[in-house]
Amino acid sequence: MTFSEKYSEYTDKINAALEKAVKTSDEITYRAMAYSLLAGGKRVRPVIVMACCEALGGDMGLALKYGCAIEMIHTYSLIHDDLPCMDNDSLRRGRPTNHMVYGEAQALLAGDGLLNLAAEHISGAEPHNAEKDIRAVAHLFGNSGAMGMIGGQADDIFAETHEATRELVEKIHHRKTGALIRAAGELGAVAAGAEADFFRDYTVHLGLAFQIRDDILDVESSAEQLGKSNSDADNNKATFVSVYGIDEAKLRLERETALALSAVEPLGEKGAFLRELADYLLKRDK
Ligand code: IPE
Ligand code: IPE
Ligand code: MG
Ligand code: MG
Ligand code: MG
Repeated sequence: MTFSEKYSEYTDKINAALEKAVKTSDEITYRAMAYSLLAGGKRVRPVIVMACCEALGGDMGLALKYGCAIEMIHTYSLIHDDLPCMDNDSLRRGRPTNHMVYGEAQALLAGDGLLNLAAEHISGAEPHNAEKDIRAVAHLFGNSGAMGMIGGQADDIFAETHEATRELVEKIHHRKTGALIRAAGELGAVAAGAEADFFRDYTVHLGLAFQIRDDILDVESSAEQLGKSNSDADNNKATFVSVYGIDEAKLRLERETALALSAVEPLGEKGAFLRELADYLLKRDK
């Protein structure tokens, strides 16, 4: 099986499970949640959960369940990230942003709804493993909380109006994006019954590389190609491109990718997909 066939095998399962989880009600909030959750997206975080679990021969039913939960959290973060009080963007996943369609108040609530649904999904959906499920909740909600992703988003907003140092931009990326990528590796390891930090080196470098690539695409690509607004310069964002310059950002992207690759080298053949994933994310054009 090729890398892209394997990637599609994962995303087909993820998309079907997400649809089932969110199409349970015709309430306006559920419709707004489904609008963003089922709008496509690369599904990188759940793919990492599943691939890490599979590399360790773990329980793939649990990995799929945890993968859905992390994608719900990620999608809520995108809905909130696009709000006028945050990045004020109008295009996401090839569609008008949630608040452009449903209004600001309802978009805020759709984000809240997805955050709740993530916890409901881990505790309520099949299969169950009480001990692993509770560890999954701790890792997912710890990393996405005020010390992780939310803290990173707060730093990102702070940096719009303060001097952006190298130290600050590293901290922003480590938290706003890195924390959820690290959580993905932890969820995969938990589903496999391994130590949660088994993939730590891999996901630390992959997470940083992922956001550096995002920063580069924001300046080198178009909203049309990305399917989302590219507004970093307009918002005076602290990014790897604004702080280090485009050339150094590209070198750093390659270095972080190389470090991610070598972190899973000891897995041999079992780590092949994770290595191809790092390579795909280095070169992605959306
Ligand atoms: C966008 O994430 C936000 C960042 C953390 C850079 P993705 O690039 O994973 O967005 P989707 O899920 O594919 O839409
Ligand atoms: C978003 O970072 C990070 C989170 C949503 C937590 P960005 O603001 O760079 O993401 P995009 O470029 O809008 O997708
Ligand atoms: Mg943002
Ligand atoms: Mg944004
Ligand atoms: Mg961005």
